[in-house]
Amino acid sequence: MKRRTAVLISGRGSNMVALIAAAAAPDYPAEIVLVLSNIEDAAGLETARRAGIEAWAIPHTPFGRDRAAHEAELDAALRAADVELVCLAGYMRVLTPFLVGRWEGRMLNIHPSLLPSFPGLHTHQRALDAGVRLHGCSVHLVSAELDGGPIVAQAAVPVLPDDTEDTLAARVLVQEHRIYPLALAALAGGAVARPDAAAALANPCSAVG
Ligand code: GRF
Repeated sequence: MKRRTAVLISGRGSNMVALIAAAAAPDYPAEIVLVLSNIEDAAGLETARRAGIEAWAIPHTPFGRDRAAHEAELDAALRAADVELVCLAGYMRVLTPFLVGRWEGRMLNIHPSLLPSFPGLHTHQRALDAGVRLHGCSVHLVSAELDGGPIVAQAAVPVLPDDTEDTLAARVLVQEHRIYPLALAALAGGAVARPDAAAALANPCSAVG
């Protein structure tokens, strides 16, 4: 039985597309059954619908500062769809302890840096500014600490001398699309045993490309 999985997005949803494509394989252990966005006109919603997946927005703006009330709506939608696992994929809202607690051990996030370096925003520019020679992306279980949960998969890319924020982001994105499906498969297949574990036993997910 494939694990029923939802993807939360705020924008174009290219990681969502990678997950949908991977989940189409008969032997993939998860299926994408629902896509939710906090942004009404997120491009990824239409992309998901075109792929035959239920997708709609639950905008955060009507809730003002009441983040937990917005999250309660999200949570209700996830539960109504019998969702078991959640993938944050470019979902640009910081979660409160409410939603984190509800989905502990069952919610993944993709972050465009080699965590624990560069949590938060503008990771590619910060990597360039710091002069690092390796950059990359991480998929981690969501915990109460922003971008701080146990790492499930990572991939590294070189930082080249003439890189701009855009060229570096594009190189990282290729790897995001590769490792997010691997990480979801690991979680859905039971290879990520405990929320507090450092993830899968083997590490098939690292690469320098
Ligand atoms: C990705 O780089 C992801 O790591 C970051 O936001 C971007 C979302 O891209 N959190 P997309 O919407 O999946 O194309």
